Amino acid sequence: MRRDEARRVRLWDPALRLFHWLLAVLVVTNWLLGKFGPSIMTVHFWIGYAILGLLAFRLVWGIVGPEHARFVNFLRGPRAVMAYLRHLPDRNPSNWPGHNPMGALSVVAMLGVLIWQAGSGLVIDPEDFVNIGPLADAAGPEISRAAVGWHSLGADLVLILVVLHVAVILFYRVWKNEDLVRPMVTGWKWVRRTDK
Ligand code: HEM
Ligand code: HEM
Repeated sequence: MRRDEARRVRLWDPALRLFHWLLAVLVVTNWLLGKFGPSIMTVHFWIGYAILGLLAFRLVWGIVGPEHARFVNFLRGPRAVMAYLRHLPDRNPSNWPGHNPMGALSVVAMLGVLIWQAGSGLVIDPEDFVNIGPLADAAGPEISRAAVGWHSLGADLVLILVVLHVAVILFYRVWKNEDLVRPMVTGWKWVRRTDK
């Protein structure tokens, strides 16, 4: 689609943008701390709680937030996803007014895996007598020990999804000549004239 067939609108609200960039920085930091940080994981725990706070905010914002932040406005069925995918190889910008139907799936996957990751952290007990999740006692020994495996699996899934996320955004920039990053910074995005 050509630029003159699109118009520039204020798409992403400031709270959503702040949420996104805070989430990105904190998730990368906490992932690295989990793998390579000190063996007493106090900072990892606190950053984990901050991430939980961000995720809670996003779930509420997805219901009561502005138009483009709301889940009902971007979650689509398989038919819409397939229709979108058919045009994905086209070498022009999608100028999609919001998260596209495929991107919506990755939003859900990322939020879901991060909830899983932070949630398993809350109940984790790696039996090192130091780094015990605050809800490990309440969850009981079976769950808190299994959570070590869940947290480790979650760490791999987070890595895969984040690498995929950045790769797809790079694909849009290079192949489709569409910069998705600037709108996530400024809020302003070129969108198709036909929509809304
Ligand atoms: C750990 C790192 C990251 C995580 C967990 C993450 C997570 C997310 C999530 C959850 C969304 C959906 C936003 C919403 O809530 O509606 C999103 C969108 C987006 N992210 Fe990230 N992100 C990460 C890193 C990055 C990086 C490094 C970039 C830039 C290269 C980036 C660029 C974007 C863009 C452009 C969108 C909007 C896509 C669209 O137009 O639909 N993200 N990200
Ligand atoms: C989304 C947020 C989080 C991310 C990305 C994350 C990431 C990681 C990673 C990558 C590891 C290393 C796992 C391995 O190498 O197998 C780890 C370990 C650990 N994390 Fe997290 N974590 C998060 C939240 C939390 C929270 C909220 C807690 C506790 C309240 C927590 C407690 C722990 C503990 C105790 C370990 C050590 C597990 C062991 O010794 O086997 N994490 N985390």
